[in-house]
Amino acid sequence: MNIHDKEKKYIETLNKKIAKLKKERNAVIIVHNYQRDEIQDIADISGDSLALSKAAVRTDADVIVFCGVYFMAETAAILNPNKTVLLPVFEAGCPLADMVNTEKLLEKRKEYPDVAVVCYVNSSATVKAQSDICCTSSNAVKVVKALSNKRVIFIPDKNLGRYVQSQVPDKEIILWEGFCPTHIRLQEQDVLKTKQDHPEAEFIAHPECQPQVLNLADHICSTGGMFTYVKNSSANEFIIGTENGMLYKLRKENPDKKFYLPTQHLVCPSMKLTTLGWVAHALEANEHIISVQPEIAQKALKSIKRMLEVSEENPVAAIAGY
Ligand code: 13P
Repeated sequence: MNIHDKEKKYIETLNKKIAKLKKERNAVIIVHNYQRDEIQDIADISGDSLALSKAAVRTDADVIVFCGVYFMAETAAILNPNKTVLLPVFEAGCPLADMVNTEKLLEKRKEYPDVAVVCYVNSSATVKAQSDICCTSSNAVKVVKALSNKRVIFIPDKNLGRYVQSQVPDKEIILWEGFCPTHIRLQEQDVLKTKQDHPEAEFIAHPECQPQVLNLADHICSTGGMFTYVKNSSANEFIIGTENGMLYKLRKENPDKKFYLPTQHLVCPSMKLTTLGWVAHALEANEHIISVQPEIAQKALKSIKRMLEVSEENPVAAIAGY
């Protein structure tokens, strides 16, 4: 057996084991778009942060295996206090989420009393609990527009905050000094060079990219928004300005279209920590259970619920039961 056959066999064995454990435990596997290809293949539900939060509300499984990073599993736990939420790799954190804590946020609130805090979902439960409303990359503009406040503190991603400011010029956005270490690796010259190599390609970028990169984009959207955009676009080639995990499903869903990454550095190390072996282990050993203290969860839930209320077309259905 050659190395490729051995790998195939190994994946098949693990997939069978995961399917068996999933049935035994009445579990659902929720997968973010940046996960490894083989993890995307075992997803019951895959999508962007907003889609996954909504899926976590709807599921009737007893166990949620969250293949993503810590803050995502925490959000699922907040939305499902009576379910077991498992994060296969406990160390799968988000450096952007770690760029804000409650102490610093309270200082900022003192500096700007009576200013609403809009908190990107890439943040801890305690930070969400201290905020007025949450947002994701797919609804940040809608959320800020919906607020009656003229000034808002936007935490923790300054690039997403700047993008929102460009879309909502009649409000003042007070930025936080946070950024995604993966998205800022994408440089203007990488995009210009890829555009030169593929002049017919459209450039679609995630709003966590730097402003000079976003200025070059034909379309700016969340990871979930990219799938819809590509499907509906008449273009046949796309330059993708976000993490490399996106390419697997984009290529699978659009076999006749071509996708290019402007740099090989668009890899989120935390997202890539989850492997099939860890997913099987999570289900077998019931690890790692993610839970949030009830008083924090209750406050954080308010911010998440408010987000769904102002951004969903059918808010009643989105927050049913909460
Ligand atoms: P999406 O909501 O677009 O999936 O983005 C999540 C994220 O963490 C980007 O770095």
